[in-house]
Amino acid sequence: MWKPTRKSSISLQRQIINWIIDQIQSGDWGVGTKLPTQRQLAIQLNVNRSTIQQAFEELKADGILNSKVGSGVFVANDSWNLLAKSTQPNWQKYIEASIHKPNYHTIQLINEFEQEDSIVRLGTGELSPSLLPTKQLQESIKQLSFDEKDFGYSSPQGSTKLRQALCNYLEKREITTKPENILIVSGALQALQLMAVGLFETGSIVYQDPISYLNSIQPFQSYGMQIESVNRDKNLKQTLQTKKKNKQSIFYTIPTLNNPTGSVWTFDEKQHLYNTCKELQIPIIEDDVYSELLFESSIPSIKSLDTSGQVLYIGSISKTLSPGLRIGWVVGPTPVIRRLADIKMQMDYGSSAVSQEIVTYWLTSELYENHLIELRGHLKLRAKFVENILNEQFSSIAKWGKSRGGFYIWLRFDKPIVTKEFFLNLLKRKVLINPGYIYDSDDSNHIRLSYSYASLEELKNGLFILYEESLVMIKNSCIP
Ligand SMILES: Cc1ncc(COP(=O)(O)O)c(C=O)c1O
Repeated sequence: MWKPTRKSSISLQRQIINWIIDQIQSGDWGVGTKLPTQRQLAIQLNVNRSTIQQAFEELKADGILNSKVGSGVFVANDSWNLLAKSTQPNWQKYIEASIHKPNYHTIQLINEFEQEDSIVRLGTGELSPSLLPTKQLQESIKQLSFDEKDFGYSSPQGSTKLRQALCNYLEKREITTKPENILIVSGALQALQLMAVGLFETGSIVYQDPISYLNSIQPFQSYGMQIESVNRDKNLKQTLQTKKKNKQSIFYTIPTLNNPTGSVWTFDEKQHLYNTCKELQIPIIEDDVYSELLFESSIPSIKSLDTSGQVLYIGSISKTLSPGLRIGWVVGPTPVIRRLADIKMQMDYGSSAVSQEIVTYWLTSELYENHLIELRGHLKLRAKFVENILNEQFSSIAKWGKSRGGFYIWLRFDKPIVTKEFFLNLLKRKVLINPGYIYDSDDSNHIRLSYSYASLEELKNGLFILYEESLVMIKNSCIP
């Protein structure tokens, strides 16, 4: 990202004004675009807030920006007339009128700042590059003999060899299936997108646990589906019945190592949900992408209970082997799989055949299993490392459960200090967190603490800064 330079003879304020004008003239910031807040820009451009304030004032005086009380600073309607003669389409209007919702602003900032090497990533849902088996992946690519077809488009449902390999591999989750019941997708996220556009009508209800990964992405919400959080207590059947009325509905869940809470369902909980949904004919989406990272022995999946084609099961190698290969899978009844494959062909003409070859090789050799054993060991040590720091530093201000696997600790501060301000204060100190409010908009107590990405040194330093900034928030908060 561009930053002004202190080495130039042009003042920082003038460089920022020129940069903003460039953004507008190039069409990157169309008419009506809301500018980041002064505070955010000051962090982003590494200058004082007063420099941004003065730059804004000058551009407002020139009529290029305007501010709406309480809503922020915007690119003014006639900014383009003032800056240039040509007519520019109002891209902002096009963007706002389109179907897909944008990411939350906090997530956009996370995505942007994750690219900076100097940032300590305390929330990232990804394996550290040091935990990826890069050398072995390179070796395996050398072992593979690609044929011409591997560099062409892939088939609609994905490589038969990979789907066959997955049938054997899924037996581990006690899922018995056939290649025709499997669709290869470009990551689990694509599975959700395909389901949203290909299976459910606008206005359908998506049930889920109150704190969920689904709230941090918008595949269902963008297509007019209504997200309903439900408690899975003994009244579950009644709750679902009451909310459902005549609408189509589905139940989305991550029963093993939930993102972001890390919770793990018992077998009874799985059976309860399956039986209830079966009775009410509500399909279940079981998102199982973290299950192989469980530190204890695994509990059979909901899909393993499925005798009626009720469960759409999603898996992926993103959390275990490589998110960059973009390979995941859906297991479901053949009409659903064919429908999703048809939509997928209209969207991307199939997942990378080269990636599918690599994943097939790993699943059919001992490489994958051995890698998983090693990976779980590393993650366990990292979890312990972070838990020790939490015990030493955070026990008087926060609570957490011991990690049972995967990447995350769902850290709960006693006081509701996890606000956008807290997020930005930490960003200013080069620490990036995933605040709880991106998984539950009412939450201001939690952060999703990830021990999978940052190095041990970074985790130690980042947690210390987190601790210091928490104390500042607690001190400043007038909450009793
Ligand atoms: C629960 C869950 N499902 C799906 C995904 C998407 O994974 P993929 O990289 O396979 O698209 C993620 C990634 O964060 C996730 O946490």
